[in-house]
Amino acid sequence: MNKIALLFTIFFALFAISFACQDDFNPNTSTIGECTATQKSSWKPTDNAPVLTPADLDPSELAVHEERMAYILAIAKQQNKKFVASIYHQNGTFMCLGVNTGKPNIISHGEIVAINNCTALHGVTMFTNYTLYTTGEPCAMCASALLWADFKTIVWGTFNSDLLCKICMSNIPMDSSYIFGRYYGLRAVAPRVIGGVLRTEADAWFGTYCNRPTSIYYIKPQCACTNTTSPLKIDQTRYSSWFENGKTVSQFGGTITNTGSVTVTNPTFTSTPLRPNSIWGLTVNEATNLWSLQWYPVIQPGQTFSFGYIIDGEDTIAFQPTA
Ligand SMILES: *[C@@H]1O[C@H](CO)[C@@H](O)[C@H](O)[C@H]1NC(C)=O
Ligand SMILES: *[C@@H]1O[C@H](CO)[C@@H](O)[C@H](O)[C@H]1NC(C)=O
Ligand SMILES: *[C@@H]1O[C@H](CO)[C@@H](O)[C@H](O)[C@H]1NC(C)=O
Ligand SMILES: *[C@@H]1O[C@H](CO)[C@@H](O)[C@H](O)[C@H]1NC(C)=O
Ligand SMILES: *[C@@H]1O[C@H](CO)[C@@H](O)[C@H](O)[C@H]1NC(C)=O
Ligand SMILES: [Zn+2]
Repeated sequence: MNKIALLFTIFFALFAISFACQDDFNPNTSTIGECTATQKSSWKPTDNAPVLTPADLDPSELAVHEERMAYILAIAKQQNKKFVASIYHQNGTFMCLGVNTGKPNIISHGEIVAINNCTALHGVTMFTNYTLYTTGEPCAMCASALLWADFKTIVWGTFNSDLLCKICMSNIPMDSSYIFGRYYGLRAVAPRVIGGVLRTEADAWFGTYCNRPTSIYYIKPQCACTNTTSPLKIDQTRYSSWFENGKTVSQFGGTITNTGSVTVTNPTFTSTPLRPNSIWGLTVNEATNLWSLQWYPVIQPGQTFSFGYIIDGEDTIAFQPTA
């Protein structure tokens, strides 16, 4: 190849590259990602992670969590600190402890201290399959850290909602399940989240700051007070019963009325285990056993929502609104 040909080749290659660059990512026309040119992108709607409570656990599992929670509560009392965390290996080995002493700085929360401690003591840098215990529910910062660290199970005593609404202790007002539910940016699955283990004991240890407004931890509760009894009233009528394939079948119609003064959105209902042959207006989530409205799930004060079903026998499904 002579020099002219070589220069020509180089020139042509650069020319080709400059054209290739015009095909760089253009958000207006690119098909990268899931949205088309006539859509805009925003975060995927996400539910909070489910939080298990002691009532959901097998007694033998609960006993293990209670023993480990009792241990960090005992350390907390011994050192007169509120927030203590511990980390366990999946084989059940206790790995390390973290006490929030406020040192070296304000972000030295129990969970962060425990993570750093495990790294320092045992060289652990990723906590896949590990379990973390904490006397108080992780704050938004620590919940995020626990997701990054890939903990499999997270267990706490006192809920953030109790810290902020009853104990008057300042924190970021957020259920950690909000963060844990957003695991999909980092992880394939959400961590297993268990709240309220030895809750009474943990709450008692946090005590109250409500009467200590000069404490640096004090915050005036900024919590919404919602009625514990639902304003929704459910009426059901049996329209007819008939004989079909050797058994009695009944048709029921029902109404859900909002007797309160506030709009109810996305109400859910528990029920007896009876299941209809067919139902309209309501739909059940078999995993949680909760019913919800099948259509526009908003009931204004005074408004009524109708549903109906056909069921074997003559008994109603007893629906109860969850508060
Ligand atoms: C994308 O479209 C907007 C609005 O029409 C325009 O201002 C912008 O220059 C376009 N971007 C590119 C990279 O073409
Ligand atoms: C459990 O794991 C820890 C940490 O890796 C290890 O030191 C310990 O020997 C293991 N114990 C058992 C019984 O496997
Ligand atoms: C680290 O954990 C050990 C127990 O494994 C504990 O003795 C020690 O106090 C912890 N260090 C800090 C800084 O919390
Ligand atoms: C975590 O546990 C799962 C299930 O027991 C196992 O398949 C996986 O290898 C474990 N990962 C690590 C890093 O220990
Ligand atoms: C709670 O109950 C009171 C009294 O029955 C009622 O005035 C109020 O609107 C209810 N609040 C909500 C959020 O339903
Ligand atoms: Zn924290």
